[in-house]
Amino acid sequence: MRTLDSLAEAVGTLDGTRVIVRCDLNVPLRDGVITDDGRVRASLPTLNVLVNAGARVIVCSHLGRPDGVPDPRYSLAPVAQRLSELLGKPVAFARDTVGESAQEAVAALEDGGVVVLENLRFNPGETVKDDAERRAFAEQLAALGDAMVSDGFGVVHRKQASVYELAQILPSAAGLLIETELDVLDRLTENPERPYTVVLGGSKVSDKLGVISHLLPRVDRLLVGGGMLFTFLAAEGHAVASSLLEKDQLDTVRGYIAEAGERGVELVLPTDVVVAERFAADAAHEVVAADAIEQSAFGAAGIGLDIGPDTAARFAEAIRGSRTVFWNGPMGVFEFPAFASGTKAVAEALASVDGLGVVGGGDSAAAVRQLGFADDRFGHISTGGGASLEFLEGKRLPGLTVLGWE
Ligand code: 3PG
Repeated sequence: MRTLDSLAEAVGTLDGTRVIVRCDLNVPLRDGVITDDGRVRASLPTLNVLVNAGARVIVCSHLGRPDGVPDPRYSLAPVAQRLSELLGKPVAFARDTVGESAQEAVAALEDGGVVVLENLRFNPGETVKDDAERRAFAEQLAALGDAMVSDGFGVVHRKQASVYELAQILPSAAGLLIETELDVLDRLTENPERPYTVVLGGSKVSDKLGVISHLLPRVDRLLVGGGMLFTFLAAEGHAVASSLLEKDQLDTVRGYIAEAGERGVELVLPTDVVVAERFAADAAHEVVAADAIEQSAFGAAGIGLDIGPDTAARFAEAIRGSRTVFWNGPMGVFEFPAFASGTKAVAEALASVDGLGVVGGGDSAAAVRQLGFADDRFGHISTGGGASLEFLEGKRLPGLTVLGWE
């Protein structure tokens, strides 16, 4: 894979070179305020290298899914502001992606200067399915720079103009974040130290089918929590009241349960769950056995919103007894403090793994930070939610192959 060193060779010198850096600055915002700046911080190493080398740095990213039209709710302006604070230097902001504002801001850049372009997805060419239209937008972007660094690991599974075509048009290379992510994810796929445990949560089992299929032959233990656990419990014949259930996945899940047995994979399912009267932060709730969900005080109306304390303790023990752990997806509705205990217990155990403990991006990364865990307590917190899952599924990701990744 082409890296920053090879890029410096390809363009002669980075000093004074206009380098477009495709980051993933898709951060969660509440009322225009960033609630988790992890992805901005993860972008700093590459940006600092380029700034220190005297490059003129043009940062671009998507934020949310604005669907090809400008929408102030998805503006990258607050991100540019945060980036400036973290870099400790002024950062210009262009109010468009390839228009007059972007062109003027780029022309005004000094060596070592930084500009952030407005959300790439305000332009339909970024995500359009038609190859020629995507290429046309990538050409417009390319006209702003002399070279391109791809560092948005969270978006390498997307064949989008700034990720794929732009890297073909300009001399391009992977940035340091992509290198770091691949180093860690490789350790999960190539000869992981054993026991190797994967913890999966999140709401839907249908989002995790690929990764379960691919990992079952490779792991020693699979722990299942989050909303998806109810489809596993139902597949084992238990009633789950009004909890999240994907009926169309029951057969698939039964197949996984059988396969785990045949392969000798320890499939650890919850023995107890926290059932609530309704989906709300202040809902009445109680802990019941996993095979007695409908016997809670809320009967058939009860909704499971977290794993129970017995399950949390068993999961923590399994995690602590592992040398390699990958965790993707919260164990419950961690945004509500009453239903955050399971997620907290898993995070706590992962932080004390004697080996490699990896938090898969997306919701799990947001969860550990929201629950007050410092990033350095974990072996690695991935910035890629979908991207890290697809990598672990063994898929070839367009944003990596275009950089020469085999
Ligand atoms: C993510 O949040 O997983 C990445 O930023 C990709 O976003 P997307 O799923 O909207 O392409």
